[in-house]
Amino acid sequence: MSLTKTSRGALIPALFIVAVSGIAFFSCNSAEGDEQAGKESESQPIKIDTTKIPDSKFGTAVKYGRQLMLNTAYYIGPNGIKGKFLGNKMSCTNCHQDAGTKLFSFNLMKSHEDYPQYRAREGKILTLAERVNNCVMRPHNGKPLPLDGEEMVALLSYFKWINSFVPKGDPFKGQKNKSIDLPTTAASPERGQLLYGRHCERCHGKDGEGMLQKNQLTYLYPPLWGPEGYQPGSSMHRNIKQAQWLKTNMPYDKASADAPFLTDAEALDIASFVNSDDIHKRPNPKNLDYPHAGEKAIDYAHQPFVDPFTEKQHRLGPWQPIIDYWNSKGYTPTY
Ligand code: HEC
Ligand code: HEC
Repeated sequence: MSLTKTSRGALIPALFIVAVSGIAFFSCNSAEGDEQAGKESESQPIKIDTTKIPDSKFGTAVKYGRQLMLNTAYYIGPNGIKGKFLGNKMSCTNCHQDAGTKLFSFNLMKSHEDYPQYRAREGKILTLAERVNNCVMRPHNGKPLPLDGEEMVALLSYFKWINSFVPKGDPFKGQKNKSIDLPTTAASPERGQLLYGRHCERCHGKDGEGMLQKNQLTYLYPPLWGPEGYQPGSSMHRNIKQAQWLKTNMPYDKASADAPFLTDAEALDIASFVNSDDIHKRPNPKNLDYPHAGEKAIDYAHQPFVDPFTEKQHRLGPWQPIIDYWNSKGYTPTY
């Protein structure tokens, strides 16, 4: 079951559609939820029914929060009608699909209960509002929303409301993206370029520039690199992280969680091409992240490291030797 087509239908012609409902499946697995294959028989349907948003002041904030997710740049983009916060015209839903409710697509249904949380990238505890602003600043290349402003309050209200559809406590299947097998050889941006031409270019364009909607305010196909794309400090710029998402979500019209289109190795090749900074320019290339090198995600390819591997190997793999080294030294490898 894929929610993609319904939400796309809503996104393209109708900027103001509020109600998009769909059925998702979850199962209450242990912490390694998405690693545990074969548990889907335990799945129960969850219905996200936006017609159930309460008719109250809180409900009004939830609805606005949902609209902000779906048409972010329309409201707060470079020419936004409610404020000019984003540096580009992407919408949150371009990555957190179906306004953060699609499974295996950087799902946000648990975020409300998962914060405040220690974040290794910043080396400190962040509130959910601060975490939202990280995405406003990095993938959207913008300036932070005021923490008590109408937009932030609406987004937090929306996250609280979607959280009410998932069981408390345990992670659910689809909260995290699908895991991928890491190949024993390095990813190849050259192969990735060929695959990009075959599977991605028809929507995202030859130069990764994407295509704006007719209103010129938001994207029909969001950009993948260049001045309008996400910053290198975004999580999407990490190759394993991106490949895990591509596997079940791209090409947009062909991939689904039940039937991934790209192989794991192809997804890594393509991500390594999309994220090649020596080929593609991005806004704000400075990186001052992960104050503690032993907490760095292994596909975050910037010195200093606690291991002897090169930036290139952190970027392209093979990653297993890095993982083995980290385990042998008592560090916890994450990606
Ligand atoms: C270019 C893609 C992209 C865009 C656009 C984007 N995000 Fe994110 N966001 C991510 C990625 C990747 C993560 C990290 C997820 C992970 O670590 O698994 C993330 C994480 C988050 C988290 C933390 C989730 C959690 O539970 O830890 C929140 C909240 C969030 N984003 C909100 C937003 C909002 C609100 C917007 C729009 C203003 C937005 N994002 C736009 C890619 C994006
Ligand atoms: C049929 C058109 C289509 C094809 C083909 C396609 N995409 Fe997308 N892509 C989209 C749409 C539409 C979105 C936004 C999703 C949404 O808003 O729900 C998107 C979003 C993305 C994003 C996150 C947002 C951003 O711009 O950073 C990435 C990354 C991405 N696609 C990469 C790829 C890659 C890599 C391929 C090839 C394997 C691919 N896409 C193929 C339509 C397409």
